[in-house]
Amino acid sequence: MGRNLIQRILVGGAVVLLVGCVGISWRPAVAPVSPPAADSFAPALVALGGQLAAAGNCAACHTVAGGPAYGGGLGLETGFGLAYSTNITPDPQTGIGNWSEEAFTRAMREGVDREGSHLLPAFPYTHFTKLTDGDVKALYAFFMTRPAVVAPDRANTIPFPFNVRALQAGWKLLFFDRGVYQAVSGKSEAWNRGAYLAEGIAHCAACHTPRNRLGAEKRNAAYAGAPFDGWLAPPLNAANPAPMPWTQQDLYDYLRTGESEAHGVAAGAMADVVHNGLAKLPDADLQALATYFADGNGSAARAPAAAAALALASSRRLVDAGRETEPGAHLYLAACASCHYSPAAKPPTIQGSLALSTSITADDPANFIQTLMHGVGGAGMPGPYMPGFAAALTDNDIALLAAYLRRTRSDQPAWVNLPAAIAARRPPTAVTP
Ligand code: HEC
Ligand code: HEC
Ligand code: HEC
Repeated sequence: MGRNLIQRILVGGAVVLLVGCVGISWRPAVAPVSPPAADSFAPALVALGGQLAAAGNCAACHTVAGGPAYGGGLGLETGFGLAYSTNITPDPQTGIGNWSEEAFTRAMREGVDREGSHLLPAFPYTHFTKLTDGDVKALYAFFMTRPAVVAPDRANTIPFPFNVRALQAGWKLLFFDRGVYQAVSGKSEAWNRGAYLAEGIAHCAACHTPRNRLGAEKRNAAYAGAPFDGWLAPPLNAANPAPMPWTQQDLYDYLRTGESEAHGVAAGAMADVVHNGLAKLPDADLQALATYFADGNGSAARAPAAAAALALASSRRLVDAGRETEPGAHLYLAACASCHYSPAAKPPTIQGSLALSTSITADDPANFIQTLMHGVGGAGMPGPYMPGFAAALTDNDIALLAAYLRRTRSDQPAWVNLPAAIAARRPPTAVTP
């Protein structure tokens, strides 16, 4: 067979595949409507929708910093190019003002827009498909009662052929399980409520589950931990590297307040999830989430070893004495120990020993580096505060500190490739001394 013929067969095959996808992917448009009057929605329904919008972090993707609420325009890296979030305010021309409830429901449940085009999975419809009718209705009521913003959608930068929306039909066949959450029998009501929230509106797996090369969450690695925006969203399953198990109480404290005594504080994107999202949910919902994850992470099985882990971590707060001449220890004592120490009489909080934090024990130094670059708290966040050290410490200082704390606060092997990991996370505007 000549090369030409093979080429022709390959191209022909690709065309057939494309046409096939277009064929199975065709979806009708849903007729446009006039924007429904804001007072046609019951206030209680709008309020519920507001809670769900917070828990779903809609604003994190659909609002740009300093821009109007839900006006869209944030570029999200898909691995193939940028996908821009859209305007989801009720402006009829540039937003979703002429979307009926049916059109909105189809977008949330099936990832198809009003005109019938497939939406990209950068929009987490793969999770929102699990929402009940009542919850979708409430979200629709909430968005239809927001101030309309005139903001045309921005064109994505995803190149051909990945920008062919019809091809999303193939992606959906492979990776999308459509359908409302089904309660698991034999599990408690709280567990099922937690699973419903986590797998659906709160889409915890979108950050905490690793993805395959086509951007789909790996089914066989649920909550196994994944990189997110220069951070590590740590494993939430039995592979979680925290020395102390995450008990239901620990998870509840962390999700409710952004801090757990035995684990540390929520920073990076997780701070946003907690303080701008979960904060709007009632206590019972956060207990439900804690119930679900405490069951899935094997914390009960690890409980017998917790006391020993705590004692070991606690003993580690004393390791710096006598090491003052080591460069890492020297830096630590000068820049960190004024806050990160605990007198022996006190129970060893995370702040005291640092040995309980996954930012030290995880395989990836990402969260340690980010915490040093950006600090903790501030920006209206409640709770304790640590300044960012991006301007005060060089990359080499941070590498010395990372290596020293990893060696003295954990039994894990040294982090490899620290210089590159640090350089990649240095904020561009920070002035290096
Ligand atoms: C992780 C980021 C992310 C989150 C969180 C998110 N969205 Fe989106 N959303 C997007 C992106 C990106 C698009 C555009 C997708 C595309 O171009 O195919 C989109 C599209 C949409 C669309 C289709 C609009 C149109 O004009 O075609 C709707 C409706 C929508 N989102 C509603 C929501 C709601 C409601 C929430 C919260 C419950 C939410 N989104 C949360 C990223 C997100
Ligand atoms: C002004 C006080 C202060 C200084 C100085 C300080 N920290 Fe912190 N640090 C905090 C507080 C408060 C927290 C968050 C509370 C907690 O984790 O208990 C924190 C959290 C951390 C965490 C994250 C722990 C977690 O998972 O929550 C790391 C890692 C850390 N600090 C390392 C350092 C290093 C290394 C230095 C020195 C370069 C340093 N800190 C200097 C106050 C400080
Ligand atoms: C937008 C991405 C994102 C979403 C959504 C998200 N997380 Fe996170 N999560 C992170 C990142 C990044 C970290 C690391 C932050 C840090 O160490 O301070 C984190 C940290 C955590 C931790 C601490 C783990 C440890 O051992 O240190 C827990 C627990 C957690 N998340 C639970 C959840 C739950 C439950 C949900 C859903 C309700 C959720 N996350 C949704 C990104 C996310």
